Amino acid sequence: MGVSISEHWSVRDVPDLLGKTALVTGGAGDIGRAIADFFVRRGVRTYICARNAQSCADTAAELSRHGECHGVQADLGSLAGMQRLAAEISGREDRVDILVNNAGLGVFGIFVDAAWDKLDNMLAVNVVALTHLTHLFAGPMAARGYGRVLMVASTAAFQPVPLYAAYAATKAYVLSLSEALNVEFGKRGVKFTTLCPGTTQSEFFDVAVQKKSAFVEKSMMTSAAVAKIGVDALAAGRSGGVAGLLNTLMAFSTRLAPRSTAAKIGYLVMKG
Ligand SMILES: NC(=O)c1ccc[n+]([C@@H]2O[C@H](COP(=O)([O-])OP(=O)(O)OC[C@H]3O[C@@H](n4cnc5c(N)ncnc54)[C@H](OP(=O)(O)O)[C@@H]3O)[C@@H](O)[C@H]2O)c1
Repeated sequence: MGVSISEHWSVRDVPDLLGKTALVTGGAGDIGRAIADFFVRRGVRTYICARNAQSCADTAAELSRHGECHGVQADLGSLAGMQRLAAEISGREDRVDILVNNAGLGVFGIFVDAAWDKLDNMLAVNVVALTHLTHLFAGPMAARGYGRVLMVASTAAFQPVPLYAAYAATKAYVLSLSEALNVEFGKRGVKFTTLCPGTTQSEFFDVAVQKKSAFVEKSMMTSAAVAKIGVDALAAGRSGGVAGLLNTLMAFSTRLAPRSTAAKIGYLVMKG
């Protein structure tokens, strides 16, 4: 479990968020929990969603010590799961002001060696669920003239990444969708912020079945520090936030080299 984001948070009011309602998918995971922790402590009524019922309930109970937090178990890998989440939220709330599309996973390794059901589940969570929830909540946000959507992508969104080929492609989709919607919704009070973490301490690598290389170990950020960058960017209404200086430089450097070269370098980094 991640460290509380509040331990890293400089005291600063974000009056814009007070009294709002937020939904954080993957809210029992490391980055999502740190984001939810921030909202709960700032007076935002927060719903977290996770697939694992026990960790969802435990995390919601723990965060509830600092404010209002509710857990909703739902498997976002299926249409039924998304419908369950939507029905649960709309049965209890008349609006969601802040949507954090954070739930996501990677599948590491040679593309054709991965079992199809794993890739299919990843596409369902990283792409379909994120798009579906955005489609569901962004329209009503615009009709009310206020909304904030935090899309959790990755630095893998900026370039092709062999051995994470399909995962990186899902994150490129997230970045592209978020940047386009930020313009579409720009004048209607709904702001989209894309958070692009680099390697971050979390369950991600165990789920992806990737052994961490020395480079990965050295460049890891804490989930609380990453969450803070995302929430800062959301609170400021910025369109993007790349987590950390090293990741920002790496993201920028992909613009300087041909994409084919960036892909080859990505392969060398990933194979360790
Ligand atoms: N850690 C990194 O190095 C890194 C780098 C770049 C981007 N990211 C992105 O950051 C986001 C958060 O990941 P994390 O690092 O915090 O990893 P994590 O600790 O593994 O959290 C992932 C969360 O996604 C949820 N999730 C996965 N499949 C789901 C499903 N079918 N239905 C509902 N929820 C599901 C998990 O819930 P359950 O535990 O209940 O399954 C968990 O709460 C992801 O989008 C990831 O791609 C991570």
